[in-house]
Amino acid sequence: MSKFVLNTWYPLTWSRQVGRSLSSHCIVGKQLVVYRTAAGQVAAMDDSCPHRLMPLSMGKLKGDTIECGYHGLTFDCFGKCVRIPGQDLIPAGMRTQSYPTHEQMGLVWIWMGDPALADTSLVFDLPQYHDSAWSAVEGDALEIGTSYLNLADNLCDPSHVSYVHLSTLGNSASEGVPVQSREEKGKVVTWRWIIDAPPIPLFAKYRNFKGNVDRWHYYHYHAPSIAIIDFGTADTGTGAPEGNRDDCIQIYACHFITPVDEHRCIDHWLHVKNFHADEATNLALSADFRTAFAEDKVILEAIERNEQRYPERRPVKIAIDASPTRMRRMVDAMLSKEAAA
Ligand SMILES: [Fe+2]
Repeated sequence: MSKFVLNTWYPLTWSRQVGRSLSSHCIVGKQLVVYRTAAGQVAAMDDSCPHRLMPLSMGKLKGDTIECGYHGLTFDCFGKCVRIPGQDLIPAGMRTQSYPTHEQMGLVWIWMGDPALADTSLVFDLPQYHDSAWSAVEGDALEIGTSYLNLADNLCDPSHVSYVHLSTLGNSASEGVPVQSREEKGKVVTWRWIIDAPPIPLFAKYRNFKGNVDRWHYYHYHAPSIAIIDFGTADTGTGAPEGNRDDCIQIYACHFITPVDEHRCIDHWLHVKNFHADEATNLALSADFRTAFAEDKVILEAIERNEQRYPERRPVKIAIDASPTRMRRMVDAMLSKEAAA
């Protein structure tokens, strides 16, 4: 059984990173060569010449084809061999696997499973990303030396911000506030409200709140590797918990996770906010997020090291683990379904 769900759209890399040159990317344990065709399509295929397994990314992009750097075998953007220097016959097996791609929200998405099922209408989208009242700012591709599921745990878990992100996303006011969890189709939602408490440092920088605030966190985890965190703040007493969010700061912090292999993942993060800001403010906001996610990276890599050191130890669960448990069950069910098919 594959260790990864394959029939799903995974984020692979930022669209801005793919151009008219060859690059190599690893996802679900497979190394791919990626480039953009002259017409602008993103081509992705196994980064291995079927002849001697030379990485094709070490070859040359010629037009829309790749010429292997070892013996000049040439492959089109679908992985079909179109030239073998010195012979006319091209053996039937001389091809490399290619994968469907699609671009959305500034990212290249890839389908590593059955290409017949690669329906582009299933690629994740956030309506606010396209709404002119909102503004989106791309962040980084943060490589973390841990399983993507450990990162997904973290992104189903609002409670850690009170301890890990005290300079940015959290403060001690939320320490004792219980976390709620529910399951929807293909999704786990985790949330909590902190009522009549001081604003977190990140939001206090961007707005002069009159005093205490009501703030919310809704963590939407879309199996297997997308997390959208809706968090916002309004002055206490303005009715935010009842649905009046006319006067608030609201941000969708988006995490598009690439499972690189069993022990590494890449968090492509960006934020979509309900206000426009100048470049300096956007950069400052990104810097705060960068600080916070670097704090998560330290913790997740330390956990990964201990998991590898003590493979027999299993987490002893507490109430805040309801959503991570649901998330992992959901991924297990997807894996079982694919294995059965
Ligand atoms: Fe975090």
